[in-house]
Amino acid sequence: MHCITPLTPACPLFVKTTTQHRKLNKILTLATKTQAPLTTTHHHAITHSMPQEKLEVYKSLEPWVAESILPFLKPTDKCWQPNDFLPNSSQSSDQFAAEVETLRELSANLPDDYLVVLVGNMITEDALPTYETFINTFDGVRDETAASASPWATWTRAWTAEENRHGDLLRTYLYLSGRVDMLMIERTIHNLIASGMDPGTENNPYMGFVYTSFQERATFISHGNMARLAKDRGEPMLARICGIIASDEKRHENAYIKIVEKLLEVDTTTAMLAIADMMRKGITMPAYLMNDGQDTSLFSHYSAVAQCLGVYTTGDYADILEFLVGRWRLEGLGGLTSEGRCAQEYVCGLPHRIRKLEERSDERARKMEKRGAKFSWIFNKKVML
Ligand SMILES: [Fe+2]
Ligand SMILES: [Fe+2]
Repeated sequence: MHCITPLTPACPLFVKTTTQHRKLNKILTLATKTQAPLTTTHHHAITHSMPQEKLEVYKSLEPWVAESILPFLKPTDKCWQPNDFLPNSSQSSDQFAAEVETLRELSANLPDDYLVVLVGNMITEDALPTYETFINTFDGVRDETAASASPWATWTRAWTAEENRHGDLLRTYLYLSGRVDMLMIERTIHNLIASGMDPGTENNPYMGFVYTSFQERATFISHGNMARLAKDRGEPMLARICGIIASDEKRHENAYIKIVEKLLEVDTTTAMLAIADMMRKGITMPAYLMNDGQDTSLFSHYSAVAQCLGVYTTGDYADILEFLVGRWRLEGLGGLTSEGRCAQEYVCGLPHRIRKLEERSDERARKMEKRGAKFSWIFNKKVML
C-alpha cells in the first residue's frame, strides 16, 4: 500500500540554516520523508482544498461550538490585563519610577541568550494581526463580517482579544527594562506583520485546527520554559509574566484540541488525513518570516538560541506530537478508510522516528564547533548558537 501523499515543495521550516536550526530541519525532513529544498519561498499554492459539501460539517457544529468551545474563554473582568503585571503609571512619579527601577534591577539578571529568546517570543506574539487573518482564511469558520454572530467567529475574535495581551505585556516589560534595542525590535515586528505567514493549511479548517492545536501547545511549552528560566536566573517578576501567558496558551490549546477531537468523531477519515498532511509538511513556527533588515538568517538564529536554551527543541516537537496522538487516541481510532489507516500509521510512528534522528543528530552536533550570531535586538551583541 502506498501511504505517502505528494510532497510539499517548499516548507518554510527550511529557511536559511545554522548548526542548531539545520539540525532541527534535517531531523524533521528525514522524519517526515519530505524532500524540501532550503528556501524561504512560501508553501505550495494549494487553496480551498476542503470540498464544498464539507461546509455543512462546520455549519452543523455551530451549536456545539457555542456550548463546548466558547466556555474556554474568560469574561473580560475575570481576565488578567498587562497593567496587572507592570509598574503602575497612575501613581506619583516617584512611586512609578521606583517600580520601574525594581523592574530594571531584576531584568539586569537576564543573560543575553535569554533576552534574545524573550524578544523573539514577544515579536511572535506581536504579529497577532497575521494570526487572526490566518484563522479567517479557513473556509466554513471565518468571520464573514468582522462582527459575525457565528460561534466560530465569536471564538476567533475573543481568542484574538485574549492573545492581544501577550505581546502588549512582553513588549512593555522589554521597553521598561532598557536591555534591548526597541527600534530594531519594532522594525522586526513591522516587517513580520507586513510579510505574513503561510503554514500550508490551504484554507482548510481541518488542517487549520490541527495547526492551531500544535502551535498553542508549542507556545505553552515555550512560555512555560521561559518562566522557569526567569525564576532560575533571579527574575521572579518576569517568571510571573511568562507563567500567566503560558496559562492562556494552555487554555487555548485545550479548546483547539477539543475541536480536532470533535472533527475526528464526526468526520474521522478527513480529520485523520488532515493531521497526517500537516505533519508531513511540518508545523512551521508562525514567525518564520521575521526580518530585522540586517540578519538574513534571523529566524534561524533565534530558533537556534531557543533550542540551545532548551526553550523549544526538536524533542519538544516530538513530545507535542506524541501528546496529540495520545490525546486524540489516534492509535485506536476505528472507522477509517484504507487511506485513513495509512495516515494513522504514519502519524503514530512519527514521534519515534523524530526522536531516533534527534539522537543521532545530537551526537554529530556535539562534535561540531560552536558558532555565534550577532542580534540587532540586543545592540549587536554576539550569542552562541
Ligand atoms: Fe500568545
Ligand atoms: Fe496562543
